[in-house]
Amino acid sequence: MHIRLARPDECSELPAIERSAAELFRGSSQAAVADGDVSPADFHRPLAVQGLVWVAEDGGRLTGFAACELFEDALHIWELAVRREAQGHGAGRALVMAAVAEARRRRAPAVTLTTFRDIAWNAPFYASCGFAEVLEEAFNPRLAWIRARETKLGLEAAARCAMRLTLMPAP
Ligand SMILES: CC(C)(COP(=O)(O)OP(=O)(O)OC[C@H]1O[C@@H](n2cnc3c(N)ncnc32)[C@H](O)[C@@H]1OP(=O)(O)O)[C@@H](O)C(=O)NCCC(=O)NCCS
Repeated sequence: MHIRLARPDECSELPAIERSAAELFRGSSQAAVADGDVSPADFHRPLAVQGLVWVAEDGGRLTGFAACELFEDALHIWELAVRREAQGHGAGRALVMAAVAEARRRRAPAVTLTTFRDIAWNAPFYASCGFAEVLEEAFNPRLAWIRARETKLGLEAAARCAMRLTLMPAP
C-alpha cells in the first residue's frame, strides 16, 4: 500500500470508496451513515487540482482517500475513507499523516475536522493521531458554519465534535 496525491481524473472513483467505507457504520450507533449520501466527484476534483487529495493505492487499485481544503486558520480534512475490505491495515492513519505533513509544508497553523464523538474509528482514532476536541464555545465562524450545515443535513449536534491538531501556536 502506498500513499500519493490523487490525479483529478481519479476523483470519479472516490464516491464508491466512501460508500464502501461507510458500511463500517452498519450496526453502530450511527447506522444511518451506511445509507447516507456521499460527496460527489465534483466536490473532490477542485481539491485534487490544488494537490489536497491523497489516495491509498494497493496493487494498482485505489483503496482509500483523504480530501482536504486549505483555509486561513487550518487545513481542513473534509473526508477520510478506506474501502471496507481494506480497513484496519494502516491506510487511514497514513492518509491523515500525509495531510498533516502537507499542512506543515504549507505552514498552515492547524489541521481541523469534524467527526462522531463516540465512534471508535472517529474521534478516538483522531485523538490517537494527536487531535484534540474544539469545544463549541471556542468555534471560529468557519467551524460554526460547518456545525450548522451538519445539523441542517440531519446530523445530531451532540453526537458530533470538531477536532484540531495545532501545528503553530496562535500569535
Ligand atoms: C476511519 C477510517 C478511514 C480508518 O481507516 P483504516 O485504514 O481502517 O485505519 P487504520 O488501519 O489506519 O487504523 C487506524 C485506527 O482506527 C481505529 N480503527 C480502525 N478500524 C476500527 C474499527 N473497526 N473499530 C475500532 N477502531 C478502528 C483504530 O484506532 C486504529 O488504530 P490502531 O490500528 O492503532 O488500533 C476507516 O475506518 C473508514 O473508512 N471508516 C468509515 C468512514 C469514516 O468513518 N471516516 C472518517 C469520517 S470523520
